[in-house]
Amino acid sequence: QRFAVVMAGGGGTRFWPLSRSSSPKQFLNLSGNDILINETIDRISKVIPKKNIFIVTNINQKEMIEKVLDEEIDRNNIIYEPIGRNTAACILYAALKIKKIHEDGIMCVFPSDHYIKDNEGFAEVINTCIEIGEKHNKLITIGINPTFPSTGYGYIKFDRDSSDKYEKKAYDVLEFVEKPSFDKAKAYIKSGNYLWNSGMFVWKVDTIIQNFNRFLPRIYNRFYSIYEYLWTDQEFEKIGEIYPSLQDISIDYGIMERADEVVVVPGDFGWNDVGSWDSLGAIFPPDDDGNIVKALHVGIDTRDCIIYGNNRLIATINVSDVIIAETEDAVLVCSKNRAQDVKKIVEILKERK
Ligand code: GDD
Ligand code: MG
Repeated sequence: QRFAVVMAGGGGTRFWPLSRSSSPKQFLNLSGNDILINETIDRISKVIPKKNIFIVTNINQKEMIEKVLDEEIDRNNIIYEPIGRNTAACILYAALKIKKIHEDGIMCVFPSDHYIKDNEGFAEVINTCIEIGEKHNKLITIGINPTFPSTGYGYIKFDRDSSDKYEKKAYDVLEFVEKPSFDKAKAYIKSGNYLWNSGMFVWKVDTIIQNFNRFLPRIYNRFYSIYEYLWTDQEFEKIGEIYPSLQDISIDYGIMERADEVVVVPGDFGWNDVGSWDSLGAIFPPDDDGNIVKALHVGIDTRDCIIYGNNRLIATINVSDVIIAETEDAVLVCSKNRAQDVKKIVEILKERK
């Protein structure tokens, strides 16, 4: 059987004021169709039946998620974490829940808050990953052709000569580097031998659990100490006892950088992790003046702006390269090339509280 695990516990502070701790990025409707998490589920359901789709999120999002999540997802498939302990803990928790009732199977892990243009291309790549996962005991990543030296992604160096083993559909990974420095990222891009890690993974349930045993044994042992309580009435209580002591580490640093048996399947399906306001340009084609407008807007001499609004009319005169985001209780005005700094505003606001 095949299973999907959607990770939906992150904060996503770079879309303030639209995203809040009570309403993180996965609950935003950026495309105009549906909120990102439901678009993610819809896309996955073409490959994996909805009854086998699990969501891992934070307990403080319970009310929100139960209200807005695709109704066809069984509410028992929502796994609640008492506090965030990053993606490693999240993934092991889900893997053990699946193991306990299904023993083994193929597990596909997805972020909840990415944008993908070509859903059919996506389905094809996931199917390829599943085929390879069934045949080999590997940790499979999906690699994206990098376009700029981002320091926010994982980089995957792959062995060009290894694809025969995988019917030319995948490569052995020589090196996995999570969030390198800017200089390293520049060198990786220049070399042409690296792909970006998309943050999606495919593996056998048992293979990933064994990798936890090897590389993150403390997390592994803590979880196994309460294994018998999974799927019982005491689960949340017991999970609450172990979570505070779990190492706060991502799957990328904790396992992917260290593991030997990593494989990459290149994916070319219009991927964008919509990390900040300026990335909306990758989703929506700008109008003739270079503006992306999702608001009631009147402009004179307005160019290359991103204007997002909920209710109120936004008027602009003689501005360029500016982001304006209006919500009920806050308005953001930000230079386009400082979009990454929006998270600093959130930090300041937190301190003031
Ligand atoms: N349930 C749960 N619990 N989910 C979490 C937690 C947690 O503690 N922390 C993060 N997530 C979710 C986020 O909501 C997101 O959907 C996903 O896990 C990835 O976490 P991010 O925090 O967004 O990771 P990142 O963007 O810094 O890096 C990852 O993604 C990049 C691509 O976007 C890495 O895998 C990079 O290597 C990769 O390039
Ligand atoms: Mg991310």
